Amino acid sequence: MSAHAAAWTDLCAADALRPETARRVDLGGRTYAVFRGLDDGYYCSDGLCPHEAAHLARGTVSGTRVECPRHGLRFDLASGRRRGLPACPDLMVYPVRLRHGRVEALIPKDDPAPAQ
Ligand code: FES
Repeated sequence: MSAHAAAWTDLCAADALRPETARRVDLGGRTYAVFRGLDDGYYCSDGLCPHEAAHLARGTVSGTRVECPRHGLRFDLASGRRRGLPACPDLMVYPVRLRHGRVEALIPKDDPAPAQ
């Protein structure tokens, strides 16, 4: 298996998230945020904001964006693209699928997102 191998990883029950909500998931020393958008789509990102590491599971989900709870940056949940200032890298996002009522994300084995 290469250093960039990824695996579908169970995150939570799909019905644990109402539309426009988020939850924190910690796995193997890493932290993620799982979102359900207003479009009923599910999304997964690194848990920590790329600006100053606030946890995005505490952010406000609106439509298909999340607003960071610390300084208000908004990120597109599908692309991870940052909207507005302050400047920082885009958010790392992961492919998501629903399987047997569970939310799964395709997470690289060497994903560097640390838990905090
Ligand atoms: S920590 Fe998220 S915008 Fe600053």
